[in-house]
Amino acid sequence: MHRHEVVVVGAGLAGQRAALAAVEAGREVAIVSKLHPLRSHSGAAQGGINAAVGKEDSVDTHIYDTVKGSDYLGDQDAIEHFCREAGPTVIEMEHFGTIFSRAPDGSLARRAFGGAGFPRTIYAADRTGLALLQGLWEHLGTARFTLYQEWDVTQLVVRDGRVQGIVAFDRKTGDFTGIAAKSVVLATGPAGRIYGRTTNAHSCTGDGIAVAYEAGAQLKDMEFVQFHPTALLESSILITEGARGEGGILKNAAGERFMSKYAPHVLELASRDVVSRAIVTEVLGGHGFDGPYGQYVHLELMHLGKEKVESRLQEICDYSRRFAGIDPVTQPIPVYPAQHYMMGGISTDIRGATNVAGLFAAGEAACVSIHGANRLGGNSLLETLVFGKEAGMAAAAFAAKTGTSEVTPADVDAAAAPSRAWSNRSDGEDPSALRTEMQRTMERYVGIYRTEADLLEGLQRIRAVRQRFANVRVVDRSHVYNLNLTDALETGHMLELAETIVVGAYARTESRGAHSRVDFPKRDDARWMKHTIATRGPDGPALSYAPVAYTRWEPKERVY
Ligand code: FUM
Repeated sequence: MHRHEVVVVGAGLAGQRAALAAVEAGREVAIVSKLHPLRSHSGAAQGGINAAVGKEDSVDTHIYDTVKGSDYLGDQDAIEHFCREAGPTVIEMEHFGTIFSRAPDGSLARRAFGGAGFPRTIYAADRTGLALLQGLWEHLGTARFTLYQEWDVTQLVVRDGRVQGIVAFDRKTGDFTGIAAKSVVLATGPAGRIYGRTTNAHSCTGDGIAVAYEAGAQLKDMEFVQFHPTALLESSILITEGARGEGGILKNAAGERFMSKYAPHVLELASRDVVSRAIVTEVLGGHGFDGPYGQYVHLELMHLGKEKVESRLQEICDYSRRFAGIDPVTQPIPVYPAQHYMMGGISTDIRGATNVAGLFAAGEAACVSIHGANRLGGNSLLETLVFGKEAGMAAAAFAAKTGTSEVTPADVDAAAAPSRAWSNRSDGEDPSALRTEMQRTMERYVGIYRTEADLLEGLQRIRAVRQRFANVRVVDRSHVYNLNLTDALETGHMLELAETIVVGAYARTESRGAHSRVDFPKRDDARWMKHTIATRGPDGPALSYAPVAYTRWEPKERVY
């Protein structure tokens, strides 16, 4: 058994920033991560980080754009704090060593992004997440902390009304081990792998969100799932919004620049929910291209010229050439929307605190909520850093006033018991088959356009897969890097969360942001201007609702 003051689970940008804040506050800290920190999914973020830094832009415009982008479901007090912290956060990251792209005058280069009233997305070519991750990791290297690398969190231990620590599974040895902590920060990222078509890394299986939910933490707004408009066909690799920010245009099979029909003022730079729906509508209307990997539209960059495309969009060139066999300098890129981000997550306040004493969350695993029903591109990297720091400071303060915590051998045994049962079965379900069934179900029934009939069918199917999961079998008995076992652990986590997404989506009889109900096409502020809260009950998620915080912006129709 290990013991620390503050345990941070997840080593992406939110986890690292939380750990740094807790160390700086004088606490003794450990990071538990299923990956090497530099392989965290934060590194996949391409296009940039938002901050109103120039004279022409303003923090108020950033706040307004974020409120409007959220379709008025974002908490305005949290959004105000978030946008005010943006400038200092970017400057701090620059001082930590992040190398951002520069404008000709030497200032931070900024590009246009969807839903933004001003080009305020600061970037490092099209590998901004990686540049930030490297800068922060190097800076964190100057601090003293313990790293448990390639350890998966499997249980949160809550007793006597507060967190006592976690149980984690060491992939290298196959051992389950208790880690006692006075406070725990969950920064484990998203659960995008619930869907088949996703820009998320294979590691994005919602482990932290699921263990929090199982331990009594409330989840907020899980039905709001973001689809990025431009994922590369077949592989679903992200083709950054920065490509449209640099001037890229979308065309259908008839050669029409179709966004003029859906967002006449800003065209391709409407918010992501609007652009994704436009692409799907074009395809459903018979205006898409047909191919062996499904229907799609074209993203054209050719008119931007070789120098611009190859210097600003280096990764996009590489991915398109390697994974689609096309050269974006001379050919259109085949794209279609794919799951990209979860607006929902573990419900927290502005300081990262959850309803469980001693438990904090940050980054995509958390829902503060600043994104409401739809997140703006470039606000996610910023969120990891602003709220990672908040959660780290709050977890440190909690640990400073809390007595010893205990994770007992019985806690570890209870956490390991399901895995033992899965391995001892002589017959049962293959976890990867269940994962595939879940992904197909979510893709087909809980996608961009939703209906009552589809959601009901999706819910029944997800519940049927959950029932089959009760009989899951792990055939690989090895202790070292047993991927069959980690597949089962992750699939169990994702099934738990998939159910909360469908239940929340079924209940919300309106269309708002990324939640688009064909049978309820209008936003219904009178009935639905509220957050969905999911609490785990014996028969699945129990829903309740919480008010949205307002400061200065009255809800109005969202037009781009
Ligand atoms: O399109 C992108 O580069 C993604 C950015 C984001 O999700 O914030």
